[in-house]
Amino acid sequence: MTDKQRSWEKRLAAGPDELTVNYVESLSYDTRLYKYDIVGSIAHATMLAERKLITQTELKAIKNGLIEISEQIEAGRFRFDKAHEDVHMAIEAALIEKIGEPGKKLHTARSRNDQVATDVRLWLRDEIEGQQAAIVQLQKAFVQLAGKHTNDLMPAYTHLQRAQPIVIGAYLLSFVEQLERDFIRLTNCRNLLNVSPLGSGAIAGSTLAIDRLSTACQLAFADIAHSSIDAISDRDFCAEFIFDCALTGAHLSRFAEDWILFSSNEFDFIRIDDAFCTSSSMMPQKRNPDVLELMRGKTGSLYGALIGMLTILKGQPSGYNRDLQEDKIHLFAAADTVRASLEMARAVVAHTQFKTARIAAGLDAGFLDATALAEYLVGKGVPFRAAHGVVGALVSLCEKDGRSLSQVSLETFKEHTPQIDADVYDYLGARHVVQRYASAGAAGPQQVKERIAYWKKHLAER
Ligand code: ARG
Repeated sequence: MTDKQRSWEKRLAAGPDELTVNYVESLSYDTRLYKYDIVGSIAHATMLAERKLITQTELKAIKNGLIEISEQIEAGRFRFDKAHEDVHMAIEAALIEKIGEPGKKLHTARSRNDQVATDVRLWLRDEIEGQQAAIVQLQKAFVQLAGKHTNDLMPAYTHLQRAQPIVIGAYLLSFVEQLERDFIRLTNCRNLLNVSPLGSGAIAGSTLAIDRLSTACQLAFADIAHSSIDAISDRDFCAEFIFDCALTGAHLSRFAEDWILFSSNEFDFIRIDDAFCTSSSMMPQKRNPDVLELMRGKTGSLYGALIGMLTILKGQPSGYNRDLQEDKIHLFAAADTVRASLEMARAVVAHTQFKTARIAAGLDAGFLDATALAEYLVGKGVPFRAAHGVVGALVSLCEKDGRSLSQVSLETFKEHTPQIDADVYDYLGARHVVQRYASAGAAGPQQVKERIAYWKKHLAER
């Protein structure tokens, strides 16, 4: 045994090569699990004492030692050494150094395999809570802004072509719905991951009479994982969580893309506060929406994390394989990225102004009232397909001489279809159209006011 050799590797002829030490370590990124590792170890030791596998005195020494180590790490007074490979070994080694013999009993009926599986689940439960809080903050910012624009109009687009008029509030609330699904997906993810792998050992459990329900209860898991073989290698919840992050990223990237366009001279719908813009090193006039571009770009990193995670899982033989150590790289990266983007999005939403007068001035372009005119004809007994044809022909006519539908004379209307009456003018123009939206969930002022009231109540209860 050389000096470099670690106590848990006595069956090896010599200590690891320097290259190996650097290659296998996860300490450079898994130290953020330290609190969960310590909480898990205290639960495990408590159970060992309950089962008389250690004495009460030993338990006390272990507990106090672990708490001291936790405080040292918290205060930045703990020296992590890569030779310990990972946070689990680093803490255990420090404990043994601190309290001696009782420390050597902590790893009874436990492996790093069930230990890390437990730590990551505990960490993720908290992370999900934080992410859900960030989602709610962003939802509230959207609802707040929507409340200012329940009567201001904008065009809605399909295929990025003008489609129908909507109130701005309705547009903003569309993101609240997306975020709500993101919130629920995280709740579902938490429910599935909330089972305890602790006590599964390396793969087959233990010959010692441990009590897995005790540790599961202490750690507030809903149940134990029932197959030790599955429990130590299951990382489904990591893939699922990263997927949830990726989909939130998809939503944020669509929001970002909209607002990048809206803040351009071509649209000129919004003004994002200077605090959330950057300038150009060469062009002095520039106010660039870099924050939103990065939000769009970071979504690519989230997808990368998802593919990375899924690929790590693919084709691994049953049981724990060291491949799994890489899970945390993608898990932490996805969590940090999506959290930062959610917080950024909240700040941008809270500091953006819609240029309502400018948007309203341009609403005559694009025949936003065409569909409503066809529906007016339906009300006069014209079959929808026929009405669609009539309005199509009218739009084509208007396009030629640069008119809007409301500028067509009653005479011309009647030439196209006799069912049109003078009341048609009360149905044309963006303002009239949004007032007439009658279906549930439509983008009119009444529906939006009702939905805002719902969201205010719902989000306040969270
Ligand atoms: N650092 C490892 C990980 O993150 C812990 C488990 C190591 N287990 C083992 N048998 N080498 O997955």
